[in-house]
Amino acid sequence: MAEQKATNVHWHDGEVTRADRHRLLGQKGATLWFTGLSGSGKSTVAVALEQALYERGKLTYRLDGDNVRLGINKNLGFSAEDRTENIRRIGEIAKLFVDSGVIALSSFISPYRADRDRVRQLHAESDYPFIEIFVDCSLAEAEARDPKGLYKKARAGEIANFTGIDDPYEEPQAPEIHLHTDQMSLEQEVEIIIDYLHQQGLIADI
Ligand code: ADX
Repeated sequence: MAEQKATNVHWHDGEVTRADRHRLLGQKGATLWFTGLSGSGKSTVAVALEQALYERGKLTYRLDGDNVRLGINKNLGFSAEDRTENIRRIGEIAKLFVDSGVIALSSFISPYRADRDRVRQLHAESDYPFIEIFVDCSLAEAEARDPKGLYKKARAGEIANFTGIDDPYEEPQAPEIHLHTDQMSLEQEVEIIIDYLHQQGLIADI
């Protein structure tokens, strides 16, 4: 857990409120947190959902594992501490997007339950919607897909601490949405999420 290092720092509110930004954009912000094994389909679903929301006039922004690790988190690896810090930073970034009124689509393995719960808590403290989407896919299927050839490398001992092989993936116990990507079509998955967002009043025009 990162501790507060700087002292004598204080939050400063502006004149334009979150509600003002919502009115300006005609939408409320929310974080949709995709979690699942490498190769489970997190990014694929996020990309398809992004398109579906765009067609409905909703502003989203995708935060994606590899992209973020090439930029703001380039100094982090895959040790337990680094994964925790990776998720902590992404949680804070997602929260900024939500505050701005944007729908953040965050796709990271985020294998540790405590890390995801901390992001959930961070959102709850500010009353920001946080929707955990378990992109569930058996290890056998993810490994058969192996889109980046990484499982093969991990099995050959060329990558250490690979999630699902020699590093744990802790499944969500009560995700808002549970997708089985080895049994559902991409269209069905997007529809499930869109329906959920409608039910929650998150994609209604405001
Ligand atoms: S997380 O565990 O910290 O949430 P993140 O989603 O950012 O992981 O990055 C996972 C991606 O990094 C994988 O999809 C894969 O492409 C790559 N990767 C490289 N090494 C590993 C590893 N040891 N374990 C898991 N993914 C890895």
